[in-house]
Amino acid sequence: MVQSLDRSQGRAGGVAADVTPAPATFTGNRALQIEEPLIFEMGHAGRCGVDLPEPAKVKDRLNGLRRSGEIGLPGLSEPQVVQHYTRLSQKNYAIDMGVYPLGSCTMKHNPRINEKVVRLAGLGDLHPLQPVSTVQGALDLIDHLAYWLKTLTGMPAVAMSPAAGAHGETCGMMAIAAALDAKGERAQRKVVLEPESAHGTNPATAASLGFTVKPIPANDRGQVDLAALKAALGPDVAAIMLTNPNTCGLFESEIIEIAQAVHAAGAYFYCDGANFNAFVGRVRPGDLGIDCMHLNLHKTFSTPHGGGGPGSGPVVLSAALAPYAPYPWIVKDGDRWRITEEGSPVEGTPIGRLKAFHGQMGMFTRALAYMMSHCIDGLKQASEDAVLSANYVLASLKDIISPSFEGPCMHEALFDDSFLKDSGVSTLDFAKAMIDEGYHPMTMYFPLVVHGAMLIEPTESQAKEDLDQFIAAMRSLAERAKSGTAVEQFKAAPRFAPRRRLDETHAARKPILRWRPTNNPPDGAPVRRAAE
Ligand SMILES: Cc1ncc(COP(=O)(O)O)c(C=O)c1O
Repeated sequence: MVQSLDRSQGRAGGVAADVTPAPATFTGNRALQIEEPLIFEMGHAGRCGVDLPEPAKVKDRLNGLRRSGEIGLPGLSEPQVVQHYTRLSQKNYAIDMGVYPLGSCTMKHNPRINEKVVRLAGLGDLHPLQPVSTVQGALDLIDHLAYWLKTLTGMPAVAMSPAAGAHGETCGMMAIAAALDAKGERAQRKVVLEPESAHGTNPATAASLGFTVKPIPANDRGQVDLAALKAALGPDVAAIMLTNPNTCGLFESEIIEIAQAVHAAGAYFYCDGANFNAFVGRVRPGDLGIDCMHLNLHKTFSTPHGGGGPGSGPVVLSAALAPYAPYPWIVKDGDRWRITEEGSPVEGTPIGRLKAFHGQMGMFTRALAYMMSHCIDGLKQASEDAVLSANYVLASLKDIISPSFEGPCMHEALFDDSFLKDSGVSTLDFAKAMIDEGYHPMTMYFPLVVHGAMLIEPTESQAKEDLDQFIAAMRSLAERAKSGTAVEQFKAAPRFAPRRRLDETHAARKPILRWRPTNNPPDGAPVRRAAE
């Protein structure tokens, strides 16, 4: 039966609508959900959106290898291109659309002032090869941002160039390797300790730099098992890589004891600070005894994360590791800035360059705009609000969706799938059903410490009424899942998205990596234009 959905009732009251699929339309469109072909399936050769002059005749210097036929670009007018990409953009869920609860990602609002500032003449059109005399303001901006990062973390040095969190991890661990080298201990200290609750990039970084990864178990509070850590520390250990707050959304309350034990064993303390949004303005990591920590500017200090743009992962360093910071340096002589790859502000052996040029200028500008418009009190309030939102979600759901650990959380709330036991509904089904409710799913099956994990990070950006609606939808889904009467609907979800559930195993095992015309589908693959 097709039942009209009373929006307010369906949303606030948690009443499930028993909606059977509507009959197909002639076009395959469903109101504003437009069936969109690939751009290569549109238009026709010969049509062009721009009027280009005939290319000048040049001598063929390709020894006869020059292409002689058409390259098969789609022929489209400008309106067709604009409409195509506009329609595609409307199929994406975005932080500008609603609650984006993806855990471990800090999908927070990006204030528009950042975008305005980053487009200012003199910043928006910078080129890294411009003469240094013409980019004095930009260098001043980088130095200013570095000052804020050092002040907020209580650390004496910062390497600005890493291009993302994982790149920052590489930078920090290379600095640790260089420091061990300088002490003649690199060959002996090959082990990096990785708590189970660390972010996945941590062990990947250590392994990619040739270290041996040794896992440290979590205790029943979801934190590092201190006794197990102490037992693992020895003359072969180079460092620990600890994510704090960890991927269970918990602050490692024994972090000072951890730092002391690690240092007493002659090892270094790498802290993954990608979740700094949870405590910026409240705690300075430098006071906790860490040696280096990367910051995801694209999480803590707004700026788009993931598909929204490039990241930026500056690394703050203790006095012990500062001599190994990568090039380049920005140095002030009198009132003029210069960029140098010579020497080091502190005596040491820099690890060299990590990337071309000087860092992600657009991200630097956005992050500094965010900091300066919030100031210290605003940054502190943002972290407090992020923690408050996560605890509000946790407290509002814990009687119906099983929390993984007792007590309050930091910036994200972790649930497991025990509430779904014997319901026939899995974490995956639940996540897909959230899409039908108009939400991007939370992070699922991560962290691995708990079974069927559901990690929800609401951030500080959402209004209480929006969080209430999200909570009501989650409660409604949990009730339906537990009732055992809606298993079919969960298995069929998402029912209202442009595409139904994909066979992810098939897609992973037999990926179709090459586009072919729809009239020639590869080996029995479905014709893509069919409205499913
Ligand atoms: C805790 C943690 N560490 C490291 C990273 C890696 O950062 P990136 O994706 O910028 O490489 C992330 C990603 O968000 C993260 O959440």
